[in-house]
Amino acid sequence: MITPTRTSSLTFSEITPGSGLKAALSRPPADALAKINFSGLRGRGGAGFPTSLKWELADKSPGQKKYVICNADEGEPGTFKDRVILADFADLVFEGMTIAAYCISAQEGIVYLRAEYTYLRPHLEEVLEQRREKNLLGNKIGGQDGFDFDIHVRMGSGSYVCGEETALIESLEGQRGEPRNRPPFPIDTGYLGNPTTVNNVETFAWAACILSQGSDWFKKLGTEKSTGHKLFSVSGDCQLPGVYDLPLGITIDELLDQVGGQDAKAVQVGGAAGQCVPRHEFHRAIAYEDIPTGGSIIVFGPHRDMLRVAANFLEFFIDESCGQCTPCREGAPKLLEGIEMLQRGECSMEHLQELYSLGQTMQLASKCGLGQTAPNTFLSIVDHFRDEILGRTAPA
Ligand SMILES: Cc1cc2nc3c(=O)[nH]c(=O)nc-3n(C[C@H](O)[C@H](O)[C@H](O)COP(=O)(O)O)c2cc1C
Ligand code: SF4
Repeated sequence: MITPTRTSSLTFSEITPGSGLKAALSRPPADALAKINFSGLRGRGGAGFPTSLKWELADKSPGQKKYVICNADEGEPGTFKDRVILADFADLVFEGMTIAAYCISAQEGIVYLRAEYTYLRPHLEEVLEQRREKNLLGNKIGGQDGFDFDIHVRMGSGSYVCGEETALIESLEGQRGEPRNRPPFPIDTGYLGNPTTVNNVETFAWAACILSQGSDWFKKLGTEKSTGHKLFSVSGDCQLPGVYDLPLGITIDELLDQVGGQDAKAVQVGGAAGQCVPRHEFHRAIAYEDIPTGGSIIVFGPHRDMLRVAANFLEFFIDESCGQCTPCREGAPKLLEGIEMLQRGECSMEHLQELYSLGQTMQLASKCGLGQTAPNTFLSIVDHFRDEILGRTAPA
């Protein structure tokens, strides 16, 4: 297990607990939503969907009962920042969920907690109980007539795909955790058919910070399209692995300087589902407009075999695919088979090209983000490590 080295320096430790919710409740819900909108906050779970837009759509969606779900399933390889937030800043996450509930008029919140994080549950339950005692959860929160909201914790089913929001909802409803067809989206037809906002742990924590400190405070760092700070889980071949709190827009070079990974040959940004960025592209920015990420950064040193890296990620996707659709179920094993042929020197250039086009088809034709991103590393390794790969193709 990675030991975070920088947890004490996270921005979250500077925020006074309760200040965000207090600020939100002092004004109508539309003002809280406007603050989130002006801040430019985008979802920290990976896709970067604007948080205020999601909440606004859930608010406008007709429905008697609405839900706020915290996606704490954190299963992306190389990601461990949500674990740190839940362990050290649970109050801030619950505060963000309560602000979301105020904005969309939800009555119930659920934390979908990764099965491997069961050990965190007693701590989370204790924080929730303290919040009930302080009237920060329950009926008439903060003395506001009609604002009744409570949160409970439900355990995840131990599968990576359950982190996909519609599979998560299926799992909560007691079904197999398989992604749904979209539309309809959860904001209309979510948990038990009701309007639901699903957000990442970190997104809720930042929402509480923004209400406490203001939109301008948040926006003053980051880029125009990727405002604010982001937590990064850094692992692999570097001297200082851990959780880092850095502004979006930082280049890979700058990040490697901080973590002691200057001799890296490649960096995997965004976990197994992300991109493998080669050294000559380390000037690129980690931001939604360049290289987006949910926060996983895996550093590969000069000695790493990139084919082994691609094989390792594909093995993960084969294990985790729910098997519902053909491009993902059949495509990932075919790509792995191709890598194994390359490793044995048995894959021709022509077959490699067919595999490349299969990977592109998976990106287009798979039903959910798992299959759409499963070929990413394979494709970026073929694109950027041609010397390593072409030397291993079979003669025509
Ligand atoms: C296979 C798969 C796994 C995912 N796992 C997670 C996860 O563990 N945590 C998370 O917040 N989002 C995860 N997501 C993204 C969610 O579907 C969803 O976009 C996110 O929870 C929305 O929150 P945000 O808008 O705050 O980022 C996953 C997506 C896919 C396709
Ligand atoms: S892409 Fe993969 S994980 Fe997603 S629905 Fe299809 S088979 Fe299931």
